Amino acid sequence: MSQETWAVPVDDPLATAGPPWLDGKVALVAGGGLSGPEGNVGFAMAWLFARSGARVAVLDRDHAAGERTVDAIRKAGGEAETFDVDLTDDDSCATAVRQAYEHFGSINVVADSIGGGGARSIFDISVEDWHTAMDVNLTSAWLLMRHVQEYMERGGSIVTISSSAAEGRGPGMPYSIAKTALEKLSTGAASSLAPRGIRVNCVRVGMIWGAFAARGMSEEQRELRRRNVAMQTEGNAWDIASAAFFLSTDQARWISGQVLTVDGGGFAFRNTGAAGSNPTKE
Ligand SMILES: NC(=O)c1ccc[n+]([C@@H]2O[C@H](COP(=O)([O-])OP(=O)(O)OC[C@H]3O[C@@H](n4cnc5c(N)ncnc54)[C@H](O)[C@@H]3O)[C@@H](O)[C@H]2O)c1
Repeated sequence: MSQETWAVPVDDPLATAGPPWLDGKVALVAGGGLSGPEGNVGFAMAWLFARSGARVAVLDRDHAAGERTVDAIRKAGGEAETFDVDLTDDDSCATAVRQAYEHFGSINVVADSIGGGGARSIFDISVEDWHTAMDVNLTSAWLLMRHVQEYMERGGSIVTISSSAAEGRGPGMPYSIAKTALEKLSTGAASSLAPRGIRVNCVRVGMIWGAFAARGMSEEQRELRRRNVAMQTEGNAWDIASAAFFLSTDQARWISGQVLTVDGGGFAFRNTGAAGSNPTKE
């Protein structure tokens, strides 16, 4: 092959790029506080972004959690600042986003990991619980997108965090419904923002161990969950953050409107030794 054949691909920034992947960028992580000793998705994303060269705005309603993330990043030589916010409140969200922009001068990468919900049946919850599930898992992401997109330019990226529960039909339906809608919001926003060169993707989280799970799960439940994963291992916040990180880099510059499932291969379907009807039996 002649040298000219190779000149084009190696001219491309992707062909020659190396770490740090987010050098010169500002990343805003909603729910980026370190919420517990087990670690959590928001913290892990903030950490990976910072370790890859980004200056990081940590938005969290828990000031101490936000400070823990900022301290960890600064100790590792990175730059970060925390901004208090209640992401379910439009004014609070607008203010925190504006403060982050004014502090850092740009917003290039956005990741939103706020979410949560119980496991009660759809007919056992109150109207208030319903609205809370929608506010925390769906409306907060919409509010954040509305405000950050005003400050974002071509090359920007937004990542949202959904859950395998989006496929659920059992207990915890309000959470499942809100996460399904969050995925739709993400793909829809990708379409709206594509002409401006801003990408939006979503990471659907499987059964990971972290601060989120540790708040409501016994060791027995945790073990049962692990065995129900196809790969028979539980993931953790880093598995999710790594996927979100890739989607946030220029390496993913042509990926938008996607829901990437990170779940160890999904639920385990084990051979029970039977396949339904048995013609040798009466
Ligand atoms: N851990 C799992 O098993 C699992 C599985 C599927 C999906 N998920 C999803 O992953 C995400 C959890 O990520 P995490 O590990 O960072 O969770 P986390 O709950 O430990 O951390 C969330 C952070 O967001 C902050 N926060 C919550 N509500 C807020 C609000 N209204 N305004 C501002 N900040 C707020 C909290 O203070 C906390 O620091 C959620 O979206 C969850 O639905 C988790």
